[in-house]
Amino acid sequence: MGIVTSTEMFKKAYNGGYAIGAFNVNNMEIIQGITAAAIEEKAPLILQVSKGARSYANHIYLMKLIEAAVEDAEQNAGFELPICVHLDHGDSFEICKSCIDGGFTSVMIDASSKPFEENIALTKKVVEYAHAHGVVVEAELGTLAGVEDEVNVSAEDSSYTRAEDVQEFVERTGCDSLAIAIGTSHGAYKFKPGTNPQLRFDILEDVSNRLPGFPIVLHGASSVPQQFVKMINENGGNMPGAIGVPEDQLRKAASMAVCKINIDSDLRLAMTGTIREYMNAHPDHFDPRQYLKPARENIKAIVQHKLVNVLGCNGKA
Ligand code: G3H
Ligand code: 13P
Ligand code: ZN
Repeated sequence: MGIVTSTEMFKKAYNGGYAIGAFNVNNMEIIQGITAAAIEEKAPLILQVSKGARSYANHIYLMKLIEAAVEDAEQNAGFELPICVHLDHGDSFEICKSCIDGGFTSVMIDASSKPFEENIALTKKVVEYAHAHGVVVEAELGTLAGVEDEVNVSAEDSSYTRAEDVQEFVERTGCDSLAIAIGTSHGAYKFKPGTNPQLRFDILEDVSNRLPGFPIVLHGASSVPQQFVKMINENGGNMPGAIGVPEDQLRKAASMAVCKINIDSDLRLAMTGTIREYMNAHPDHFDPRQYLKPARENIKAIVQHKLVNVLGCNGKA
């Protein structure tokens, strides 16, 4: 095991009615928090790296930190932790190629903002290169609202996936999994406070009927835990109206054809909330280890909660 593709993970998840958590990583503490949770829960993992994460932390650093997590799990916990290393929202052939050449086992080519034929052509080109190197490819149809690699997609510009397109898209591109838009969105401000957010399970069902056995991916799946929003707001932050996807709806999606659920914002909230609270309580402290340690512990706690209560992938590694 160790660093693997998502192929086997998705097969088991599809048949078992659960999903694999795909968590974004940007530094050592985030990687340690996530992997500690996965080890304790014996859960398979996808660690994903965005273009922004690569430019912040450097591809080689992130790859080596993930390799270190696998090695540490084996040596110190006696556990072969299966991790798929994935490029999140690759926007060009070049970035996908660079990640494939640099040891990732999975890439996303996100050409969902392009016209259908252009999306197919670019996805197909990435699939050909990836498959020739033993790497799997996630593609996307439909547009999510929210912030993606610093580009803001307004709710008006977002659009649900058209179920009638998915079969042709998958057949012509050869992609291994498909991200669809059913009402989730990126970031912490997903829904208006006081509304009752509902994912479009009718679209998910329609898509999965047209693609039997095929793994579906949900982006923008943070639930924006209110305890961390409160922690931020009570300690100098200003995040009114931060609302996420209800966890019971994600659990339902995981029991259907959704095999990969992407979570990033919830981890950022846990880290920022913890650090704000710590700094407020200890204004004279200046050692980063003092606030990064509880931040890492809270990342572990939130990931553990997701693995057990949302994804249902605990004990599946
Ligand atoms: O979907 C976007 C992810 O949350 C990554 O965000 O581009 O700020 O690293 P980022
Ligand atoms: P959130 O912003 O809801 O965490 O979504 C993360 C994501 O989709 C990463 O690709
Ligand atoms: Zn995303």
